[in-house]
Amino acid sequence: MSVPFLGAQSVIVGDDEAFTCADDPGEIDMGSAARGSITVREAAILTDLARGRCVLEIGTGTGFSAQSMITTARSVVSIDIDPYVIEYVFPRLFALGIECATEIPANRLFDLVFLDGNHSLSSVVADVERARKVSARGGVMVFHDLSFSGVESGLRQLNLLDAVERFGTPLGLGMLKLA
Ligand SMILES: C[S@@+](CC[C@H](N)C(=O)[O-])C[C@H]1O[C@@H](n2cnc3c(N)ncnc32)[C@H](O)[C@@H]1O
Repeated sequence: MSVPFLGAQSVIVGDDEAFTCADDPGEIDMGSAARGSITVREAAILTDLARGRCVLEIGTGTGFSAQSMITTARSVVSIDIDPYVIEYVFPRLFALGIECATEIPANRLFDLVFLDGNHSLSSVVADVERARKVSARGGVMVFHDLSFSGVESGLRQLNLLDAVERFGTPLGLGMLKLA
C-alpha cells in the first residue's frame, strides 16, 4: 500500500504491513523505538466493524487506526496522553473530522470501543473498566495486540479472554460483543 499519511514509514509484519511515524521519538517510558500502527488487514477489518458506529479509540498512536475508521464510522473520538501524539498526530486527525482528546469525554456513550493503549496487565484491566462505563448496550469492544502477554493476562484476569472472537491477524485483533 502507498503510505497512508505524510511521514509514514512502512513496517512489514508477517505477510502484512503496518506503519510508524518517521520522526516519532518513542512512547513515554518505552525507549526510542517508534510506535507501530495496526496493520493494513486489521485496518480493513476495523473499518468494516466501525461502519455507522460511534467509536472511541484508546491509544491514537500513529493515527492510522482512527483515520481508517472515520471513513465509515458515524463519529470517532481518539484519546492519547503522549506529548508527541498530541502535538503532531492530533492536528492531522482533527483535519479528518476526528475528535482527539487526552481523556475519555464524560456523558457520552460509544457503540465500538477500540482498545490499543498501554499493553501492561494493569493498564489493560483499567482500560476495559473505563471502556465498560462508556459502552452502549449491545456495543462491542475491539482489542489489538492480543499476542502481547499483558493484553492476554489482563483479559484472562477479567474472565473475558475466552469470549473474545479473534480475526486471525499476526498481532492479534479480537472483538468482544457486549450484552
Ligand atoms: C500501539 S499505539 C496505538 C496504535 C494505533 N492504534 C495506530 O494504529 O497507530 C499505543 C498508544 O497508546 C497510547 N497510550 C498509552 N497509555 C495510554 C492511556 N492511558 N490513555 C490513552 N492512550 C495511551 C500511547 O501513547 C501510544 O500512542
